[in-house]
Amino acid sequence: MKLLAIETSCDETAVAILEATGSEHGASFTILGNALLSQIELHRQYGGVFPALAKREHAKNLVPLLQAALEEAELLREDEQTLPDEQRATLAELLAREPELLEQLIDALTHMERPAVDAIAVTAGPGLEPALWVGVNLARALALVWNLPIVAVNHMEGHLLSALAESTDEKTLTIPAIALPLLGLLISGGHTELVVMKEWGTYEKIGQTKDDAVGEAFDKVARMLGLPYPGGPEVSRLAEKDREDARTNPYQLPRPMIASGDLDFSFSGLKTAVLYKTKEAGEDGLSEERKEQLARAFEDAATDVLYKKSSDALAATAARTLALGGGVSANTHIRRMFRAKLASEHPQVKLSIPSAALTSDNAIMIGIAGYFHALTSDFTDSATLRADGNLSLA
Ligand code: KG4
Ligand code: ZN
Repeated sequence: MKLLAIETSCDETAVAILEATGSEHGASFTILGNALLSQIELHRQYGGVFPALAKREHAKNLVPLLQAALEEAELLREDEQTLPDEQRATLAELLAREPELLEQLIDALTHMERPAVDAIAVTAGPGLEPALWVGVNLARALALVWNLPIVAVNHMEGHLLSALAESTDEKTLTIPAIALPLLGLLISGGHTELVVMKEWGTYEKIGQTKDDAVGEAFDKVARMLGLPYPGGPEVSRLAEKDREDARTNPYQLPRPMIASGDLDFSFSGLKTAVLYKTKEAGEDGLSEERKEQLARAFEDAATDVLYKKSSDALAATAARTLALGGGVSANTHIRRMFRAKLASEHPQVKLSIPSAALTSDNAIMIGIAGYFHALTSDFTDSATLRADGNLSLA
């Protein structure tokens, strides 16, 4: 099955074409085309993602990315096509708020053959709703003109399932048969949650943050340390520098809720503790060395809590696989710490961590999650498909 996948939930615009075979007992994905444009540079001046700008950029870039992905997949064939008036009218209605996208799309559609794909997978949520709508409406437009079914994909399921993918070569990913139950630790800018999958494709949320998401805490701590957005990689860079220098760390930060006995998280107190430390430095601010030490103390504390709760959840669910997913799973210390601790404390559990390229938002993961739904014909009627910023996995 060939899938066209679209992701616009946040500040990455992405389109991918995947050829997929197999089932939950073992699946293989060939990446035929993958086009991605990050808006990070544009949002940096605002210190975070600016939703109206994200939406505008998605609208501007989606059609060129679609063409690039199709071209890479050798599915772009030039041909003059006529669009029936009825279809033009529906497209104009669907994309009334994205006139630039509409114009580009009509131009593209009237100059190309219908590509040989079988379904469209699109992120329906969670994320920034105005941004999500752009991708959703493009999917609806393409589904109409090319007469294709749509799979509405949960972005977090994309993160989770792509964590299970092993790459055989640059263009091939395989998901082996997974030993269930599977525990997922989803850590991103908007989420910190533990979900358990007892049967393939069904999720139960067993823990979540009561306040900030861990990625959000990384981003806010970065701002306190005068580092640019997105803060996660910057905090990580400083913390790693401190570890290399192996200095004694003067900072001791709390590990909120580590002994709460449940599987929930809280990162707001930890973030505030960092704020106090920066305030204590007074007007001169923190030296470079102190910043590195504070970044490390924060990262150590956050990682300890993530690991402890995951470890408790493994014990509570008798899970046989642990998958880390979401942008924060790119973190070097978290990856290293989970690998080491799991091997010694839960040697029977298989750890799945996404490859670096798949940790940040992308359309490949949307195609992967979409495929498993397409297999069971879990399609969504284009007329009722909605973007949902708060879409939940469980
Ligand atoms: O999954 P993602 O790309 O977007 C959302 O769905 O939210 O996650 C973005 C988050 C940001 O908060 C970013 O700072 C964080 O992931 N992040 C990291 C690292 N790389 C990205 N946090 C810690 N260490 C990293 N290396
Ligand atoms: Zn994400």
